[in-house]
Amino acid sequence: MTRGGPPVVVLGVSGGIAAYKAVELLRQLTESGHDVTVVPTQSALAFVGAPTWAALSGKPVRTTVWDDVQSVPHVRIGQSADLVVVAPATADLLAKAAHGLADDLLTNTLLTARCPVVFAPAMHTEMWEHAATQANVATLRARGCVVIEPAVGRLTGADSGKGRLPEPTEIYAVCTRLLSRGLSPDLAGRRVVVSAGGTREHLDPVRFLGNRSSGKQGYALARTAVARGAEVVLVAANVALPDPAGVKVVRVTSALELRDAVLAEALSADVVVMSAAVADYRPVERQATKRKKTDSLTVELVQNPDVLAELGRQRQDGQVLVGFAAETGDADGSVLDHGRAKLARKGCDLLVVNEVGETGHPTGFEGEHNAAVVLGADGSATDIPLGSKDALADAVWDLVAARLPTS
Ligand code: CTP
Repeated sequence: MTRGGPPVVVLGVSGGIAAYKAVELLRQLTESGHDVTVVPTQSALAFVGAPTWAALSGKPVRTTVWDDVQSVPHVRIGQSADLVVVAPATADLLAKAAHGLADDLLTNTLLTARCPVVFAPAMHTEMWEHAATQANVATLRARGCVVIEPAVGRLTGADSGKGRLPEPTEIYAVCTRLLSRGLSPDLAGRRVVVSAGGTREHLDPVRFLGNRSSGKQGYALARTAVARGAEVVLVAANVALPDPAGVKVVRVTSALELRDAVLAEALSADVVVMSAAVADYRPVERQATKRKKTDSLTVELVQNPDVLAELGRQRQDGQVLVGFAAETGDADGSVLDHGRAKLARKGCDLLVVNEVGETGHPTGFEGEHNAAVVLGADGSATDIPLGSKDALADAVWDLVAARLPTS
């Protein structure tokens, strides 16, 4: 890519059962025109043999620094890569990478690479949660590597839990997003919290007051933040979308649950983005059993806490806070006047303002596209033209990244 040819990718494979899924990742990368060199560890070959990697990449496969020594592969492979992705990354491989060990070709490559490096860990839950692994992951993230959170699901045996390798298509999407940006991951080492979806305020076990937010924009924010290197927590309110790869998903239903989850996660966050549609009111009473039909029904509502405003009041030093707002102009002011007033009222740094369209819904509501003006507390206004929700998300992250204190 940097040399005008196809993007050069190194696919590192370490010794876990999920190595077989890396075969699919390799196919996706080569079929979409990437130049891929596979560097397995010796133990990865116990799961998937060298002929498979060689046949599908069209290149010889080596595991040690002792083959083809005249071309100095332990330096060349890393230096010439546009992206290194290690999938699966075992606990052992993460430990070696975090400590700079270099006892085979893959670990040497990791030390010489100057491009974005992605680790897709896969291991048993206990190994992932072990303090040693968590410390190694934190070290790698702080150094600018992208460590994708493992998925939750079936593990090697009959057991299940957190530790599964995310689906190859999702790892592929993280890789191509990083390559298309051609930058080092600018949110690496940052922890971001994104709320998405719409809250439901229950009247009884089967009925609720809700809204039509699909959560698509929030999910796009989470996905794109992963590709920019962030550790992402997604607080999802009633969203029917698959979990984005590499994201910790906290599911909530009501505004009060969303508030508790977001405030707890925000304590250690560098960025909080409130893209969820939070109900302003909830029924005073939630009946434990299904309401029976009556001639008429009056429901008394009480105001919900304003989560964004609370975040604005309690924000940590240097934390960047982003709100969303759907606005119309009226006799009291234009869309942007109302947006500016809301930004000040909520105490956020950025407010993504969607103009409510003629249908009565903001641009992008439920759809695949979105457009907005992002207002900044510094008086700025950035127009984001109609485009994909990922494009809007990336534009928001550009503005966020520019506001983060240098670490
Ligand atoms: N928000 C929140 N808590 C609420 C309501 C909204 O955190 N109880 C957040 C939303 O997630 C969004 C922003 O505040 O980021 C703006 O939401 P909006 O509904 O436009 O704000 P309101 O304060 O309800 O203003 P309005 O009177 O215009 O509805």
